[in-house]
Amino acid sequence: MSYCVNSTCRNPENSAYSQRCHSCGSQLVLRDRYRVIKPLAQGGFGTTFLAQDEALPGQPSCVIKQLRSSEVTPMLVQMARSLFETEAVTLGKIGNHPQIPRLLDYFEEHEQFYLVQEYIHGMTLQQEVKQNGVFGEVGVKQFLSEILPLLQYIHECKMIHCDIKPANIVRRAQDGKLVLIDFGAVKNQVSQLANQPEQRALTAYAIGTPGFAPVEQMVLRPVFASDIYAVGVTCIYLLTGKFPKDLDYNPRTGEMLWKQLVQTSDQLSVVLRKMLEVSVHNRYQSVEQVLKALDLEFYVDTFTQDTPVESFTVSKEQMSAYSQESRILCGNSCTDLFKQSVAQMATAIQAKSIKMVDTSCIKLTSNEPIFTAAIVDE
Ligand SMILES: Nc1ncnc2c1ncn2[C@@H]1O[C@H](COP(=O)(O)OP(=O)(O)O)[C@@H](O)[C@H]1O
Ligand SMILES: [Mg+2]
Ligand SMILES: [Zn+2]
Repeated sequence: MSYCVNSTCRNPENSAYSQRCHSCGSQLVLRDRYRVIKPLAQGGFGTTFLAQDEALPGQPSCVIKQLRSSEVTPMLVQMARSLFETEAVTLGKIGNHPQIPRLLDYFEEHEQFYLVQEYIHGMTLQQEVKQNGVFGEVGVKQFLSEILPLLQYIHECKMIHCDIKPANIVRRAQDGKLVLIDFGAVKNQVSQLANQPEQRALTAYAIGTPGFAPVEQMVLRPVFASDIYAVGVTCIYLLTGKFPKDLDYNPRTGEMLWKQLVQTSDQLSVVLRKMLEVSVHNRYQSVEQVLKALDLEFYVDTFTQDTPVESFTVSKEQMSAYSQESRILCGNSCTDLFKQSVAQMATAIQAKSIKMVDTSCIKLTSNEPIFTAAIVDE
């Protein structure tokens, strides 16, 4: 099958060898080589497709992320493009790690932007829990022993992922290893957008997911420990099958109430509690500290090697169940222009419910991505 990438196409499904869409006439092979097979997911700024690279022998699968840019205001196009470029630059820089998808291509065609990356065949941890049920303590420790060294590598590259969650971690079917995806929200500590003169109006923005992103990230101050918090929330999901929005919070401290729902050893409970500290000061400051506390520091490799992992496969339904993410837009001090643009984008990009909220009243009620933006009044 071929799939038409024109977002307004009425009948995007085409036969395997067609060159042009039978419905709207769009080219079905991008850049003369990438044939799109089917959509994998729809996000706030674009769509993710499964494709085949017809220029290579064997026509290997790849993932194509399409940035929708035509229907929104120039300012929002610029913001969306920056997020997209962040992902391309990040993958280009650190995508040679075996647990990060490789960046294969990045191009513009018919005023649309495309990012091509290695396809990781497997289930996300969210799909895995839905299919196989929750993890026990051993499973969670194994998860930590794999994800923490990867996070350590990302932090050593001076980057904060900012959107770690079960839907952004794929277990590769081939070898059972975890692969971290979705680098669009990455905060690059070295060259922050705020330092670029053309970005003066848009001082900072970050993407995260409410409930997975800690408080400091929601107010646009992500730090390395923000990723540690997100890994902690991911562990709670793995242990309970519940998203943060379905858990209770201590109204006085803002702490997530999870202890009574799980049966974990004192050691793991203490570590999780410290990963999930609301205050950055009380949380682990580095991945190394977490590894040390878990006694995983010196035998991470043996731990992952010794524990056999089944090979997982993914069904069509599971892949396509991943669509429809709604984003919440929020700003620190929004100008009217920005509010207007946001409203336009809300209708244009998604035609779905997007809420405009102030960061002071964010409710952690959704497991969907959040888009936060800060504008300075000049
Ligand atoms: N490299 C990849 N290999 C396999 N599946 C992927 C890959 N990248 C994305 N996906 C699938 O597409 C979904 C959306 O992609 P993602 O990069 O997370 O974009 P978004 O910003 O829309 O969340 C993921 O949850 C995953 O199911
Ligand atoms: Mg994602
Ligand atoms: Zn079409």
